[in-house]
Amino acid sequence: MQSSKNSLKETRRGFLKTASAAGAALYLGGVESGKAAAAPAKVETLALNGGPKAVTAAAAGATKWPLYGEDEIAAVAELLRSPGYGPVAEFEEAWKSYHGCAYVKAHCNGTNALTSMLFALDLPPGSEVLVADYSTWFPVVPMRFFDLVPVFVDVNPRTMNIDVEDCKRRLTAKTRAIMPVHWYGVPCDMDDICEFAKEHGLEVVEDASHAHGARVKDTLIGNWGRMAGFSLQTGKPLPAIEGGVAMYKQQGDFERAVTYGNYDLPRTFPEDSPYRKYQGTAFGSKLRIHPVAAILARIQLGKLDEYNRVGMSQLRRLNDRITQLPGLSEQYARPDMQRVCYSSNLMFIDEQAAGMSRAAAVKALQAEGVDVGEYSWTLLHTYPIFSESQWWRHMPVLPVPDSVPGCDEANRKAIRLPYFTSEQPELVDQYIAAFEKVWAHRDAIGRT
Ligand SMILES: Cc1ncc(COP(=O)(O)O)c(C=O)c1O
Repeated sequence: MQSSKNSLKETRRGFLKTASAAGAALYLGGVESGKAAAAPAKVETLALNGGPKAVTAAAAGATKWPLYGEDEIAAVAELLRSPGYGPVAEFEEAWKSYHGCAYVKAHCNGTNALTSMLFALDLPPGSEVLVADYSTWFPVVPMRFFDLVPVFVDVNPRTMNIDVEDCKRRLTAKTRAIMPVHWYGVPCDMDDICEFAKEHGLEVVEDASHAHGARVKDTLIGNWGRMAGFSLQTGKPLPAIEGGVAMYKQQGDFERAVTYGNYDLPRTFPEDSPYRKYQGTAFGSKLRIHPVAAILARIQLGKLDEYNRVGMSQLRRLNDRITQLPGLSEQYARPDMQRVCYSSNLMFIDEQAAGMSRAAAVKALQAEGVDVGEYSWTLLHTYPIFSESQWWRHMPVLPVPDSVPGCDEANRKAIRLPYFTSEQPELVDQYIAAFEKVWAHRDAIGRT
């Protein structure tokens, strides 16, 4: 698209002449959209062209995260007065009771929670694990330690989550596990994934690092698979600054995973545990969570549902309105899912339906004061480590060119908006106004 600043400098009269009727009804400066037909819409000049900005409310603190209070400060101060590891078990007990699960281990970070899980899986060398290409390397690179083979799978471009249909296409006789990731808090289709896994004898290992407290059909994320790992790092829905946690259904998995990175815990296993004898040495890693992080995680767990509720209600207030605009949609979560949000509110612009390019819309929104950017994720399989043979005894299975169209589509369409972590009615309404204003000008923007 050609960019001509002058062509965007339409006067209000010019705009009303050229904008579509639907578009003109959209930006009403606080007037309800239903009344647009009766009273001509007040259509402001785009900020890009010298008009007033739609977003003027103070945004400082609106995305503040983590939110720690006096209770966290007091508990950490207490630990400093009486140093010890008590907070670790307290956090693990709290996690068990929140999730209703049998076995939990807290770790120094999510990467090592997930790595311990991979060790616990104890799969034969060369076993293939289905992973989303639209994902992070943290639990995928460590597969090389255990001779596992990541197989990169496409995602559904509406959810950005692993596509079960593509999993079916990539199944081989060596496929042994699937690792779903709930991208930015939108749960995967865990029921379909578990059914698919059962049908083919695969283990389900959740990377739940973006979805603390999310649910599918009332079942908490983390409870669907054989085991699940969560990052507790600063930006995550449950932040401990740095930390991780893994949960297990089977005692054998738990003991094996714990022994991987805890030299001091095998003595706590039952007498007949095959891992008890590794007390003192473990297997060479030390992956215990710091007690300060355990304190933060325990207290934050008590606030998780409320923080998710507050943040998600800001997101709903915004998205319920702006997804009415042509060509603008959000990351899709099924009605029987309770999604949460990790760090950003990801949305999609379908350029054809919106009548303007993603880049032009983002530029116009930014000028209005919206904190928005184009969002594109580096596909996992493109990182050098996955194609260099010196790091793997069994090479990862990379997708052939053009075989992950869902990932490509998500990257073509996605935009990133802030996740507001506290009540922000004024700011959210101004964001809505900014979107409606830009969309009201979309014909003109589309011509630039
Ligand atoms: C999806 C996902 N999995 C795993 C991790 C690794 O967690 P950590 O950074 O706590 O090691 C992250 C971290 O950002 C992540 O986003």
